Amino acid sequence: MTQPFYITTPIYYVNDVPHIGHAYTTIAADVLARFRRLHGDDVFFLTGLDEHGQKVQQAAAKANISPQAHCDRLTPQFKNLWGKLMMSHDGFIRTTDPQHQTVVQGFLQTLYDKDLIYRAEYTGWYCTFDERFWTEKDVEGGLCPDCKRPVEQLSESNYFFRMSQYQDRLKAHINDHPEFIRPVSRRNEILGFLEKPLEDLSISRPKSRLTWGIELPFDADYVTYVWFDALTNYVSALDYLPPSPSRDRYWPATVHLVGKDILTTHAVYWSTMLMALELPLPQTIFAHGWWTVGGEKMSKSRGNVVNPNSVVDEFGVDAFRYFLLREVPFGQDGDYSQEALIGRNNSDLANGLGNLLSRTVTLIQRFANSTIPAPVRSTEDELDRELQTEAQTLLQTTLPHHLSPERIEFNRALESIWGLVQLGNQYIDKTAPWVLAKDPAKQERLHTVLYNAAETLRILCLANAAFMPSTAQNMNEQLGLSLDFSRPLLSQKITWGDLAIGTTVQKGQALFPRIDVTTVKNEKNVISQEVNPAKQKSSKSSNEETSKNSPETPTEEQISIEDFMKVQLKVGKVLEAERVPKSNKLLKLQVDLGSERRQIVAGIGKKYEPDHLVGQTIVVVANLKPANLMGVESQGMVLAAGDKEVGGIITIKEDILPGTHVK
Ligand code: MSP
Repeated sequence: MTQPFYITTPIYYVNDVPHIGHAYTTIAADVLARFRRLHGDDVFFLTGLDEHGQKVQQAAAKANISPQAHCDRLTPQFKNLWGKLMMSHDGFIRTTDPQHQTVVQGFLQTLYDKDLIYRAEYTGWYCTFDERFWTEKDVEGGLCPDCKRPVEQLSESNYFFRMSQYQDRLKAHINDHPEFIRPVSRRNEILGFLEKPLEDLSISRPKSRLTWGIELPFDADYVTYVWFDALTNYVSALDYLPPSPSRDRYWPATVHLVGKDILTTHAVYWSTMLMALELPLPQTIFAHGWWTVGGEKMSKSRGNVVNPNSVVDEFGVDAFRYFLLREVPFGQDGDYSQEALIGRNNSDLANGLGNLLSRTVTLIQRFANSTIPAPVRSTEDELDRELQTEAQTLLQTTLPHHLSPERIEFNRALESIWGLVQLGNQYIDKTAPWVLAKDPAKQERLHTVLYNAAETLRILCLANAAFMPSTAQNMNEQLGLSLDFSRPLLSQKITWGDLAIGTTVQKGQALFPRIDVTTVKNEKNVISQEVNPAKQKSSKSSNEETSKNSPETPTEEQISIEDFMKVQLKVGKVLEAERVPKSNKLLKLQVDLGSERRQIVAGIGKKYEPDHLVGQTIVVVANLKPANLMGVESQGMVLAAGDKEVGGIITIKEDILPGTHVK
């Protein structure tokens, strides 16, 4: 009997088009779903849309259409993107599905009948954006503690779920199940949150304020709170989306993937709802980190919301999938930049994996008549043994370890795969098949080397199949492997040496063409369009979605002297400089800033050799938030001139002490 593996993403609000944040969680879920299917698990992967509530009602009103029409219009934007990103979800739920609404009403009625929902008058501070009440102690300076927007005092009669009753049980569950909330830091946050008394949860909204929701079965004047509706999707979907009713089969979920922003609603609201409904709790809720762009939160008014569609059109789906999961540890925040994506593409993908495949296929074509040659099996060669051990360990131990639901270390898994890519390339460099080919006495060795290189690529193809499905297929074809990825290929022990001798290899398209920064079409790949295409050009709302400077009429924004003074520029002296491994652009500098020494990563490696910089007096932005560039921390920025390419760095000829201000 195969093992069930039920994985979910949050259901996304349809108040706007999808961006990289949404793509991130869904890609992560897709990789785990594919990985478990390759291991033979019976996977159910669910994603979908959260269509009710104030945000959606407001977005529809702005577009001057009904909420349902608005949802129907936005739904294809998500579905098409998931197609483009090669998502393999088994179910796509919409909270306007009638079957879902029936389950929500059933849950509400059950809790009401058990007296776990009661009606009460409540006065509190309401945040319209977050659609929730806050207590006096939560609100600071009249602002919502979550989104920092103004809150208003509201007094109204509502229905409450007796969430407070479950506080101790929830704490005990978290303490008894270390894998329940992941990563550990987030688990501690929730335990900390549960140190304060847990309040009952308002689960209704009067229709006088909000009509776009599921009606309470016991009071037609109210709709239910959007989170009660939304969280229920994880169970309701099982009643009607898979081929047969499968709540028994898949519930409890193996893993709910969520962003850290919605961990409390999942770990506290959802868990206590399930306890009250006498349903088992999910095995793991994993909260991942947050992507910023240029160190800032994505928002339309900043014009920095990255559009996954255009990133994929420009750089390819697998480069995007790889970048998101390789660049930042899954539980941590990260900063998105096109430069970093191009860096990864050119170094890890094109120079690493792409090069290994291309040179191996070319060598087999030239020296083995385009067919996988027979190796000498019992080799004592140390290089061969190292390659074999590394490859087997990767599939048998390393990947399952890093990709287990309580760990989810995509970056480490990819790091290990790329360890083998590097070893494969070194193996070819060291064994030099082109030299062996010249010596008739070394033909056996030549064949063994070519076989081993191809076998390494077979293993890499399997290891990458969940992460980069289209690349794996391309490798499969070029190596003539005939792998069927819909089968549980990893469920049996993968043995080194299973690559069939005599299969024909065929050179195909380069896996990852190198990207030349100077020819990149869309510099930022940001979303600039309005939700409602008809209103795109004329929309004049004061809402944050439309900034004063519309994308069609860019004006140079002027800043005040105060704004300029916020940037702390200081004189620095370069003490050391070296190249960042695998990057032809980035240099790592150690800079003396007078009172301190800073490490700064600068994209000036094409213009300067490291030695040229040592001893130079430069200008540094000293109060820039640290950033991570290709795995190296940068604690500032070097001023340089140039548009796309660096023309020159700003240097000072006079003898000025490091740390001196530049104004
Ligand atoms: N509708 C609720 C979720 C209900 S689940 C029962 C919601 N939707 S959302 O559209 O705002 O999407 C939230 C999720 O999208 C986040 O939890 C996260 O998974 C993902 N992300 C949205 N923006 C993100 C970033 N900037 N960075 C990383 N992930 C982000 O909340």
